[in-house]
Amino acid sequence: MIIARTSSKMILRLPHSRVLEAAARVIEASGKERPADSVLRSFLKAAPGVSRPEGREVARAVFAYFRWYGWLDKGGAVLAGLKRALELDQAFCERPGAFSDDQLAECCVPAWVASHMPVTAAWLRWLQTPPSLWLRAQSGRTDEIMDHLGNCQPLADLIPGLENTGAIRYVGPADLFQTEAFQNGLFELQDLSSQVVGWVCDPKPGQTWWDACAGEGGKTLQLSDLMGNKGLIWASDRAAWRLAILKRRAARARSFNYRSALWQGGESLPTKTKFDGVLVDAPCSGVGTWQRNPHGRWTVSPEDVRELAALQHRLLSHASQSVKPGGRLIYSVCTLTTAECDGICNAFTAAHPMFEPAVFPAYGSTGQVARWSLKPPAFPGNGMFIACWRREPARV
Ligand SMILES: C[S@@+](CC[C@H](N)C(=O)[O-])C[C@H]1O[C@@H](n2cnc3c(N)ncnc32)[C@H](O)[C@@H]1O
Repeated sequence: MIIARTSSKMILRLPHSRVLEAAARVIEASGKERPADSVLRSFLKAAPGVSRPEGREVARAVFAYFRWYGWLDKGGAVLAGLKRALELDQAFCERPGAFSDDQLAECCVPAWVASHMPVTAAWLRWLQTPPSLWLRAQSGRTDEIMDHLGNCQPLADLIPGLENTGAIRYVGPADLFQTEAFQNGLFELQDLSSQVVGWVCDPKPGQTWWDACAGEGGKTLQLSDLMGNKGLIWASDRAAWRLAILKRRAARARSFNYRSALWQGGESLPTKTKFDGVLVDAPCSGVGTWQRNPHGRWTVSPEDVRELAALQHRLLSHASQSVKPGGRLIYSVCTLTTAECDGICNAFTAAHPMFEPAVFPAYGSTGQVARWSLKPPAFPGNGMFIACWRREPARV
């Protein structure tokens, strides 16, 4: 690390030039089809000379670059942009009031966003801050994990009333993947709002569930834990490589009550089984993850939102056929655009009269809802939208 004085008032800690050069390479290799976070992961894996602390600094610089991209000279060199982005990051951290709401509205996200969802100054300010790290403890292991790791805040400290959820915020410096507790499967890294999706599913031991867009299995593992490893979960995805990661994670978590299958999202379903519950955690524009993944702000377009909404409607309609009479269907997306959230709910409800909107607790506030937008910073996780329906019971 070197110390640089950039103005009479502010002292910046600029990363070593080697870190900046590495960050610039990651940025230059990133694009619409190559998200910066996955380029970064591959880069760090293939760069044995980069130490873990350096790796963290590279990540910090890459994310700062995309967080402050709206302020940067697009014709300039990436290295110069990186230095400017780190200065802006530091300045915002020290004096957020020096940035006006208008300036943030103009530069934090592309202009098209305001016509696709409500944009508040509080959300924009939250987007410019570093994300929290959330863990999901296996049932009954919260205290043990908090003692083992230290630097933990249980969710109930932030939202009174949400005790015993297993959600823990980690505020320490450790590389959690290297901890014994992680390697023994006692916790997973899972964003808080993503954990809420599992609570809304609320599966019971012995039930059958279908996690239709299971990906790498964040929610499959959570459902399995909530079911006490009893009953059966079908986990499907169109990407075999994602399901292979689920397999490794499930072995670590000792989750045995799932089976995986490829499903491309078409009318031909992976099984004839009818389920107590079906979760469609659909591919989406990811606007709700733009604090954690600022590169996404500059790669998603309004056409993507339109196409993804159409895909979500198809996936939901096809998967809904597998819900038992009386069973539940849950739709979740980590985005906040109207077309993908309320638009899909309205269209699905209108086209499927055998599905009634079904209520669930609005965790952290009072009352029950049948659809819910978790909006940061009011809710301290990713932006997320969740809706639930119940299929009409069989007539006797
Ligand atoms: C939001 S991610 C799922 C995240 C996962 N549920 C978790 O909690 O870790 C959406 C998933 O949908 C999958 N997907 C995209 N298009 C699909 C399609 N047409 N049919 C089935 N799955 C699809 C993607 O491969 C991706 O894994």
